[in-house]
Amino acid sequence: MRKHKGEVELSQKIVVGLMSGTSLDGIDAALVHITESDHQNINVKLIHFSTLPYSESMRDRILELCEPNRARIENISITNMLLGELFAEAAKKVVSEAGWVMKDVDLISSHGQTIFHQPESQVVEGHAITSTLQIADISVIAERTGVMTVGDFRTRDMAVGGQGAPLVPYADDLLFRTKLNGRILANIGGIANITVLPPSGSKEQVLAYDTGPGNMLIDAFTTWMTNGKQTFDQGGEIAAKGKVDQKWLEELLDHTYYRLPIPKSTGRELFGMDYAKALWHSKDDLAPEDKIATITELTVKTIAEECKRFIDSYLIKEIFISGGGWYNQTLRTRLRENVPPYIKLGSTDELGIPADAKEAIVFALLGYQCINRRPNNLPSATGARSSVIMGKIAL
Ligand SMILES: Nc1ncnc2c1ncn2[C@@H]1O[C@H](COP(=O)(O)OP(=O)(O)O)[C@@H](O)[C@H]1O
Ligand SMILES: [Mg+2]
Repeated sequence: MRKHKGEVELSQKIVVGLMSGTSLDGIDAALVHITESDHQNINVKLIHFSTLPYSESMRDRILELCEPNRARIENISITNMLLGELFAEAAKKVVSEAGWVMKDVDLISSHGQTIFHQPESQVVEGHAITSTLQIADISVIAERTGVMTVGDFRTRDMAVGGQGAPLVPYADDLLFRTKLNGRILANIGGIANITVLPPSGSKEQVLAYDTGPGNMLIDAFTTWMTNGKQTFDQGGEIAAKGKVDQKWLEELLDHTYYRLPIPKSTGRELFGMDYAKALWHSKDDLAPEDKIATITELTVKTIAEECKRFIDSYLIKEIFISGGGWYNQTLRTRLRENVPPYIKLGSTDELGIPADAKEAIVFALLGYQCINRRPNNLPSATGARSSVIMGKIAL
């Protein structure tokens, strides 16, 4: 592989990162080249990115598993193996589209599909238990591809008292910290989260947490409004036609989650289908596009307010967005209008990481760190007692 003049590469690997988040839109796959000249200087370059969309029936199957009262143990077990097949297909797709072959790939690193996440501890049989479940069996992925596969990252962080989330901030700190000024990285997936990077100081000063819903409620509302013809508000066009109901917005902003101390993480348990259904039916007098406009504004306000908290204390000058939410123009425009004009707001594309590919790229990096036996969680973000090496390996 290519080396830059005068630079000795300690290690370099071709890695496929696999990710599917709470949106249940599909499996993102990033083929990346990771090189490093020293442990402080890891370089990640995207070769190719692709998504294997979930079919409607697959999305329904997973959604059922996300609802504890409907999920049946045999369906969890079956879908774990089934998703292993699909994740393997997603890996093969990104490699073949790039014109590469599986033999060129050193490692696959898979986040899996979260179906349950409970970061608050509960006392069970005298033990304080937090738990999380990502399925898409890594043995199946390794077997179908012939490539060593790492997965199941979150449980190790929970085992040392962390919330098992968010995991992306570790990579944000490694890849995007600059001495010039503070930066915020915001990912708008089903759920939205921010990573706040100070210009200097230790890793412990990096803050990261979920701000609340990202696209999840917008997707649900759009699906209901269009009777399933659209599963998301393409370009934010529906929201742009609607009018925000300010009074309802204020009620929505009163949710207890926004008042919880940080770090905190959330998912479908709080902002999933039950919540979405209750909201959708609570405002029968509002036009559907007004409901979508209001729910889009909820995402805007919760992200913008959290970002503004840190502008002065973290010397923030730039905000970089990633995740599918970046392609929602209404969300993008309203975010721009809700943070001070002197703050630069763009996408991670400007940092060399395409907005839609970012999380899959990050999981490639987390798996790479795992096989190199390096800690890959960020305790200040997850609340873990210590740095640990997350990930299990199927050889
Ligand atoms: N062109 C677009 N216009 C509006 N929203 C979009 C567009 N493309 C993607 N999205 C939104 O992004 C979501 C997927 O984002 P993603 O980053 O994959 O989230 P997750 O990690 O939760 O899967 C979709 O469900 C949709 O809401
Ligand atoms: Mg997705």
